[in-house]
Amino acid sequence: MGTLRKLYDVLYDNENSGVLLIHIIDKSVAKLNALIVYPKFRNKGIATRAMKIAVTNLLPNIVWFFTQCRLNDARALRLEEKVGFQKIGMLKHLGENADNVLFVYNNKHEFSFETAKLLAIKYYSRPDQQLLMGDDNNA
Ligand SMILES: CC(C)(COP(=O)(O)OP(=O)(O)OC[C@H]1O[C@@H](n2cnc3c(N)ncnc32)[C@H](O)[C@@H]1OP(=O)(O)O)[C@@H](O)C(=O)NCCC(=O)NCCS
Repeated sequence: MGTLRKLYDVLYDNENSGVLLIHIIDKSVAKLNALIVYPKFRNKGIATRAMKIAVTNLLPNIVWFFTQCRLNDARALRLEEKVGFQKIGMLKHLGENADNVLFVYNNKHEFSFETAKLLAIKYYSRPDQQLLMGDDNNA
């Protein structure tokens, strides 16, 4: 299937406090491709709640969610960890000289690194990026 892009407003006390972009890439697989909380709303737990809702309630058919963030982005790394994403590898975007951590979340308690890695290979193998996954999950 082709990619279906969904853009959500993140509301906090009825105010637009950010945006969330999700790409649905297969029947049960999606990528959280961007989450921005506008500066004046930050550090109130909004991103954490928005991501938790996104991976549990928003898309009934989606079981696997992937997301990535820069290796040096402590704030974003902290966020993935708080929501419960698991690190499964590293993505190097060729020509960008940037290292990204690839995370995955399974909302049906069917998590296995084996399956997650197979899905990552399927959905992140592109000529312009290199996917690294070690056996000890610390790639
Ligand atoms: C990343 C972002 C979405 C977080 O939004 P938010 O609503 O402020 O996030 P939350 O309040 O839910 O949680 C932020 C966490 O990061 C922590 N944090 C904030 N600044 C930090 C920093 N400089 N270093 C490390 N951790 C930091 C906060 O303490 C909090 O963790 P805690 O609850 O354990 O204290 C927001 O900063 C943003 O839009 N950044 C720009 C876009 C971006 O980087 N998007 C994510 C790409 S994956």
